[in-house]
Order: sequence, then structure tokens, then C-alpha cells
Amino acid sequence: MQERNSNSTQFFVNVEKIPGAKKMDPILIADKISRSFGGLTAVDVEHLEVQRGAITALIGPNGAGKTTFFNLLTGYDKPNQGEWSFNGKKLNDIPPFRVARLGMVRTFQLTKALYRLTVIQNMALAAKDQKGESLLRSFFPFTWRKQEAQIRLRSEEILKKFKLIDKQNDFAAALSGGQRKLLELARALMVEPELIMLDEPMAGVNPALKQSLLEHIKDLRTQGKTVLFVEHDMDMVMEISDWVVVMAQGKIIAEGPPQSIINNQDVITAYLGAHHDTELDENSESMASKNMKGGVN
Ligand SMILES: Nc1ncnc2c1ncn2[C@@H]1O[C@H](COP(=O)(O)OP(=O)(O)OP(=O)(O)O)[C@@H](O)[C@H]1O
Ligand SMILES: [Mg+2]
Repeated sequence: MQERNSNSTQFFVNVEKIPGAKKMDPILIADKISRSFGGLTAVDVEHLEVQRGAITALIGPNGAGKTTFFNLLTGYDKPNQGEWSFNGKKLNDIPPFRVARLGMVRTFQLTKALYRLTVIQNMALAAKDQKGESLLRSFFPFTWRKQEAQIRLRSEEILKKFKLIDKQNDFAAALSGGQRKLLELARALMVEPELIMLDEPMAGVNPALKQSLLEHIKDLRTQGKTVLFVEHDMDMVMEISDWVVVMAQGKIIAEGPPQSIINNQDVITAYLGAHHDTELDENSESMASKNMKGGVN
């Protein structure tokens, strides 16, 4: 078993292994959140608490509603109903840049437009997006310059840590897939968030960089930050998460420490159910666990 931060697993000693379990010190609480697209209910979460200072994985078969749930929590999409709060502050109707300013950020895949910017420009732009920079502010050159200097300092500090400082003037397009993932995380850290939400951070990352990305994520926990990540790579889930939440068809169907999750019959059934088009036979169970392991993309 991998080494784990004993302080963070301790948070879960008295937590029930059931969907919606109450946590010792939740940083994020969601209640009765639902989101439909036409006739399809993509998210229907009764209750979720995310423990502060721990790494929580959100897993589930393709189409389970994980990304939609992330979008709702961070203000990029609106639920049909539901309430959620971060550090006790209700987040309904709060736009993404204000959510980020409150200390809750999510990573995004670099878009084509961002590929055409250099690494350092990407960092600066992330700071501005997350601060909700208004045009008006740029009419005040003194505040603007002071802020530019702060942004540059912070960017350099993070890029050094991520070993991307030598690439600061390269276009993001010139980075490898793994380096881009690092840059996505680096961008999210520009506002010194308390909660970092990652949607499939390992997708497309080669094994060498995977380890470094894992270390950076564990390092966030060491710094006392909270991480909530969606991932199909079960090796990563097993290695770094303190707690796992499983979604299927929009609902949370299981919660628990990683080891309890891979042996949970409801979870195995959910992964099987996602492949109802495949003939079920005596190999189905091993197929389900293979899907949980290798990712079903
Ligand atoms: N904007 C949208 N319009 C219509 N349907 C959508 C939209 N966004 C998501 N959906 C549907 O909602 C369901 C949940 O999708 P979502 O992307 O949240 O799943 P996911 O768990 O992130 O899946 P994956 O693991 O493949 O990334 C899917 O059936 C998807 O097709
Ligand atoms: Mg998704």
C-alpha cells in the first residue's frame, strides 16, 4: 500500500461509508442538486460533503454526470434546483470568477486560443480571468502595474515549482501533452485556491510526467489544500485519494476509502451497467474492474 498522509486519512475514521456521508469538517456541501438536459437527468445529487484538507476522487462510468456536476459547483452551469456552499458561503448564482476569488477553482483544458499564447501569458491571463478583471481597472495604470508585477512574480514562482520556467516564453502549443496538463494546474493555482477541482488530470499524460503530476497534487494536500478530482485512471485514484465518491446516472451511489470502493458490489454493477450493450458472461466482472482500472474513454 502506498504511503499516505496519515493526517488526512484520520479525517475519515468516523465517517460512514454511505452516499452523502457527513464529514468532520466539510469545505464544500451540496444539497439536492439536479440538472436535466431535455429528458435526461444528468445530475441528481442528494447530498455531498467534501472534507477539507483531503484528496477526494469522484469516479463513475462515462456519462455519469461528473463533469456536469463540476460545472454546476463552479458556476459554469446552473442547476434546475439545489443549493451548495463553500466555506459556509452559499454559491448559488455566483459567477465562476467570483467562485475562484473565494478560493475554489477548477482546471480547464487549454483551448486552441490559449495554445497561441506563451506559457507566461497563459499564467497572467488565468490570474485576470479568475479575478474577473474589468476593463475599467486597466484605466488606472498604477494599480495595474503593481498588479502586473505581482502576477509575474507569482507566475514565476509556480512555473519554477512545476519545472516549466525554462518554457515560459514558449508557446503553449509547443508543450508536450503532459506539460500542458501541468500548465493547466499551474494556471489554476494563480489565485491561491483552497479547493482545487481537477477533471481528468491524467488523461493523455505519459507515465514519466504522471508521477510528477501525482507529486504536485499530493503536495497541494501537504500545503493544507483540498483537492477534488475526476479520474478514470484507477491506479491514480488508489494511489492518492483519501476518499472516493462514485457517481452513476447522475446520482452518488457509493462513498468510502479507495480500498472499500473497488470491492463494492454497487460500484461494480454500475460499471457493468454502463456497458449493457456488451454481452454479460462470467468475464463481466473482470471486465468491469478492468474498465475501472484502465479507463473507459
Ligand atoms: N450540454 C449538454 N447538453 C446535453 N446533454 C449533456 C450536456 N452536457 C452533458 N450532457 C449529458 O449529460 C450526461 C452526463 O455527462 P457528463 O459529461 O457530465 O458525464 P461524465 O461523468 O463527465 O462522463 P465522462 O467520464 O465521459 O467525462 C451525459 O449523458 C451527457 O451526454
Ligand atoms: Mg467528464
